[in-house]
Formats: sequence, structure tokens, C-alpha cells
Amino acid sequence: MTFVVTENCIKCKYMDCVEVCPVDCFHEGPNMLVIDPDECIDCTLCEPECPAEAIFSEEELPDGQQDFLKLNGELAKQWPVITEKKDAPDDAKEWDGRPGKLAHLER
Ligand code: SF4
Ligand code: F3S
Repeated sequence: MTFVVTENCIKCKYMDCVEVCPVDCFHEGPNMLVIDPDECIDCTLCEPECPAEAIFSEEELPDGQQDFLKLNGELAKQWPVITEKKDAPDDAKEWDGRPGKLAHLER
């Protein structure tokens, strides 16, 4: 099993999740993070840390978010590991909860 970063991370990218992961699973793209499903040990620590509530166990993915399981695996192979929290984008709050953010994903 793995945890999965879902759509609401896009353009919010708060990065509170990064520092709690004991096995450095998070990979950073231009405006989103993803979890490497091959490294995640299901410790559950990151899930409550995300202010945007964007992290779910793969077994509890909300409707419409199932594709993010595959996407996390794909993008984790392309993006570098991140282990230290940086500042969130200035307009993160404005994007929190907006629908249709997948269209804004930058690879
Ligand atoms: Fe890392 Fe644990 Fe979150 Fe998996 S569940 S990404 S191991 S913090
Ligand atoms: Fe994204 Fe939440 Fe982490 S918004 S960067 S999954 S804290």
C-alpha cells in the first residue's frame, strides 16, 4: 500500500508533508509534490500534516482522484527527491479547494 498526493496539492504545495516522511518519499515538481509508491512505508505521518488535505491512502482515495495513484508513480520517477520544506507559493490559499486543478499541473 502507499499514500498518494492528490489534485488539491497542485498550486498549493504547502510542503508540510516533506519533513515528517521517515523514508524521503516525496518528489518535487514545479507546482506539486508526489509520493514514490515504491518507497512509501504507509507510516501515515504525512496525511494529517497537509493543510490542503491532499494526501490519502490509496485505499481511501476520493471519487475522481484514483488516477493520481498512477500519476504519483510516474512523476516520482521524473522529479527529484525533496527532503526539506520550502516556502509555499504566495497564492497557495487562493488555490486551496478549487476544482479542475489538474489542468494546471506543470511537469
Ligand atoms: Fe512518507 Fe509515511 Fe507519508 Fe508514506 S505515509 S509518504 S512513508 S510520511
Ligand atoms: Fe502538497 Fe499538502 Fe504536501 S499541499 S506539498 S501534499 S503539505
